[in-house]
Amino acid sequence: MDVLGIDIGGSGIKGAPVDVEVGTLSQERLRVPTPQPAKPGPVAEVVARIVDHFSWTGPIGVTFPGVVRDGVVMTAANVHHSWIGVDAAELFGGATVLNDADAAGMAEMTFGEGRDRRGTVLILTIGTGIGSALFTEGVLVPNTELGHLQLKGKDAEQRASDRAREESGLTWEKWAARVEEYLRHVEMLFSPSLIVVGGGVSKRPGKWLPHVHIDTPIVPAALQNEAGIIGAAQSAAQSAPQPAPIR
Ligand code: BGC
Repeated sequence: MDVLGIDIGGSGIKGAPVDVEVGTLSQERLRVPTPQPAKPGPVAEVVARIVDHFSWTGPIGVTFPGVVRDGVVMTAANVHHSWIGVDAAELFGGATVLNDADAAGMAEMTFGEGRDRRGTVLILTIGTGIGSALFTEGVLVPNTELGHLQLKGKDAEQRASDRAREESGLTWEKWAARVEEYLRHVEMLFSPSLIVVGGGVSKRPGKWLPHVHIDTPIVPAALQNEAGIIGAAQSAAQSAPQPAPIR
């Protein structure tokens, strides 16, 4: 079954039909720059453009970089504040809408490093912000928002995101020390069996992962750029009406 997955990010909005049984894109993805400021109307226009590009009429899943409860946006840390309170599911024409890290985590749990992992698995996406997806026995606890844990009186993502590394001009090693401090806090809270790190920094694990010393096994994500698109599609496939059982 193919489902259209769309991933809304700070710099690009990317979409492609996904074969949700195997977790791969069935057509080349389309990437459109995120309108600036990324307000609901202009973002919805881009989503509609992607839907038209693929002449899509089936189910659609869309990620959003904030808390999404029952399709409604509750927080918007790195996007325009006018999103708060918007019924994104309705705005995107009845799509299934979920948090971006939760989507990436779902894909990683099914097709990547989290596959067949029992216990508590934590997927963190480290990029502009820090997103989190917490699974226990394969079941997602949505909207955990662990990037906003307080560390030294600051939002963790303000200290340990990839953006913080770039903006503060930190060496990879200095930045890794901040990541380690953050991860130690997270492992104290959840005692996960595995931590998977996705997002931009997962493409260059050799730069920082050797400097991070924690007790929990930690690996870079297997699915990189496409995890959000795939997870969005998976989520929509799960919400789509199921065919009636054969009697
Ligand atoms: C947002 C999360 C999001 C993460 C990654 C954070 O600032 O609060 O909802 O998952 O950034 O985009």
